[in-house]
Amino acid sequence: MNIETECFKKVVIVIYKEELQMEKELNALLSDLVVEYHKLQSFHWYLKGSHFFDDHAKLESFYDEIAEAVDAVAEAMLQQKLRPESTLKGFLAKTGIHEAENEEVTSEEAYTRVLSDFEYLLKEVIAVKEAAEEKKNYLVSTLMDDYIASFSKNIWMLRQALK
Ligand SMILES: [Fe+2]
Repeated sequence: MNIETECFKKVVIVIYKEELQMEKELNALLSDLVVEYHKLQSFHWYLKGSHFFDDHAKLESFYDEIAEAVDAVAEAMLQQKLRPESTLKGFLAKTGIHEAENEEVTSEEAYTRVLSDFEYLLKEVIAVKEAAEEKKNYLVSTLMDDYIASFSKNIWMLRQALK
């Protein structure tokens, strides 16, 4: 085998490994978003207390926002021939978010847990953006900008609500 063919093979292997890494990172994010979606819906359902009417609606707006992100991340992966996770078993195996427990929660309990998850998710989308930039993957990098902005805003609002 000549040197040029060897070099070509090495470049192909590097690109393949980078794609696999991006797929892994995006599937971790996708899984976290899916689990967070269900957790927010659980809090929306199991909420109790005098702030129920306002906070029940706010939790719904949070999970609606997350649902859009779930779809956008999965479809961005498909546009790049990456394989998004789509099974509940797979999401649970890949997530770092702890699920809700089918128990009533106060607004303060729910918001404290959502704040902690959103802080985790903000760090994650920043890390995905940085990895995408390194690989010149501008589709993913640009997509992460939306989530950096929305998680930052929601974190600020949750901190204000918890004061
Ligand atoms: Fe509802």
